[in-house]
Amino acid sequence: MDITLKSPSEIEKLRIVGAATARVLEMIEPYVVPGVTTEELDNIMNEYIQTKENAVSADLGYQGYPKATCISVNEVVCHGIPGPHKLREGDIVNIDVTVLKDKYYGDSSRMYIVGRTSPRNEQLCKCAQEAMYAAIRTVRPGSNLADIGAAIQKIADKAGFSIVRDYCGHGIGSGFHEDPQVLHYKNNYNLIIQEGMCFTIEPMINAGTYKVKVNRKDGWTVTTADKQPSAQYEHTLLVTKDGVEVLTLRKDEDFPRIISN
Ligand code: MF3
Ligand code: CO
Ligand code: CO
Repeated sequence: MDITLKSPSEIEKLRIVGAATARVLEMIEPYVVPGVTTEELDNIMNEYIQTKENAVSADLGYQGYPKATCISVNEVVCHGIPGPHKLREGDIVNIDVTVLKDKYYGDSSRMYIVGRTSPRNEQLCKCAQEAMYAAIRTVRPGSNLADIGAAIQKIADKAGFSIVRDYCGHGIGSGFHEDPQVLHYKNNYNLIIQEGMCFTIEPMINAGTYKVKVNRKDGWTVTTADKQPSAQYEHTLLVTKDGVEVLTLRKDEDFPRIISN
């Protein structure tokens, strides 16, 4: 395993690309309405990333991935490929964006609710966000990476939801997916967190079973095995001297950018 600790000049680049990533998710919000296709949303974001942020999508062409973003609707857990599918009132939609700028990556996702949805869907989205926030709050030099999964497990259990096990968070920097793997469920992967580490936390919470399956035709789209809905939030984090900095924080969030312990 090769965990890189980021230098001050790398941290500056990660801050810049993190902020750009956050702005993509802010910019797209008013477009997420009934009738829009996920392909239209993808085009708007790709255009914005290139022309307004002078950056590129890291997804496009990644292991052959065909689009600039991942848009995952309802029972789609992650890696939904934008296409002609039209959004409908009540859909819950994850948009996951990874931006590459000046050779560094920023990775973040959030849920959007199309119009109004069911209380259960609302609760699911809230649970995923609260789980991510609780996990972020455990991060500081000297803490254990396994505390992240424990924090998420506690919140998912309380709500009666399940946690996807097949996908995890990851180190990030001049690589899209670096070590370490960040598990989102209770685990014994004990690793002491150090200043300068940079990684994502991105729990996927399912209303029903934790089990998922990958679409055999497109090789990407991950859905819940029982077709019940799934929700995910993701932030890119930097471990500071005494806590954590959320590099992809957005204006719509009621959460601190910097936590000092
Ligand atoms: N953004 C995803 C993550 O959080 C990875 C998407 S890879 C893609 O790690 F190829 F599907 F875009
Ligand atoms: Co990620
Ligand atoms: Co992502």
